[in-house]
Amino acid sequence: MTMESLDGRAFVVTGGGSGIGRATALRLMELGASVTVAGRTEERLREVVAAGEGLSGTAMARVTDVRDPEAVEGMVADTVERFGRIDGLVNNAAGNFVCPAEDLSTNGWRAVIDIVLNGSWHCASAVGRALIAADRPGAILSVVASYAWLGHPGTVHSAAAKAGVVTMTRTLAAEWARYGIRANCISPGPTTTEGAGAALWATAAERERVLESVPARRFAEPAEIADIAGFLLSDRAGYITGEVLSADGGQSLGAQVYGTPVAELTRPRTTAPAAGR
Ligand code: COA
Repeated sequence: MTMESLDGRAFVVTGGGSGIGRATALRLMELGASVTVAGRTEERLREVVAAGEGLSGTAMARVTDVRDPEAVEGMVADTVERFGRIDGLVNNAAGNFVCPAEDLSTNGWRAVIDIVLNGSWHCASAVGRALIAADRPGAILSVVASYAWLGHPGTVHSAAAKAGVVTMTRTLAAEWARYGIRANCISPGPTTTEGAGAALWATAAERERVLESVPARRFAEPAEIADIAGFLLSDRAGYITGEVLSADGGQSLGAQVYGTPVAELTRPRTTAPAAGR
């Protein structure tokens, strides 16, 4: 099968300095794209640009706080200036911590809503307007999580924000189809990144519990999420819009109340299957 190509295209990846964002920036470069690696920590962004040297695309590190709409406008303008065009965006920047709802402060709520929901909107709006003004088609991809529709204890701020990102995406998909702009989400399950590890499974026991909630019994690698991002941004996904693609090893299917506990039902088998079946 022919692989997708992003040859000559230019994208912004927010939260590009680490984790899924870093892997996605590198994947897009691998597919031939120019990438603005946006994030808060310059050193990390520079590391990603250096790691991408030798790939067929190119990259620029750009310190940007997605919470600041003017900074986002500037980042999009710099992208167009540097690469001569813009073709899309990966809204990957996020902030999360597990906290019982009754303990969550107003500032804690605001911090997460501001990064995830407002930040994704600032970027989608700036990139969308740039595409419309240039009369170019494009693609917007946002990284969400299954708790955006299922909810999940301890993540009321992040779940509410990601739910907003899903409906923002679907609304933009419908409104901007006439401009040739697609908007989709990817919903990764637990992925082996430092950020998620620190925020969501800080101890070995917590890590084990998360693993037991995944029928596939493994974490995702950032590269396999990045691979899907590359596909969704490419012309091969040209008829896919307003979609949320889950890549979670079945985790969102595993929540269960009845019968044998999921962890037991999905425990890797220790005996070989009977022959002849
Ligand atoms: N439990 C409860 N409240 C917390 C918290 C935690 N673990 N971490 C932060 N908060 C609260 C703070 O106490 C503060 O509220 P307060 O002023 O009432 O005390 C509020 O959240 C804002 O915290 P602050 O550190 O000032 O915000 P920030 O904007 O610098 O950071 C975060 C944003 C909190 C989301 C931070 O975790 C972050 O930047 N994360 C990015 C990476 C990440 O989360 N990755 C996860 C990938 S899954």
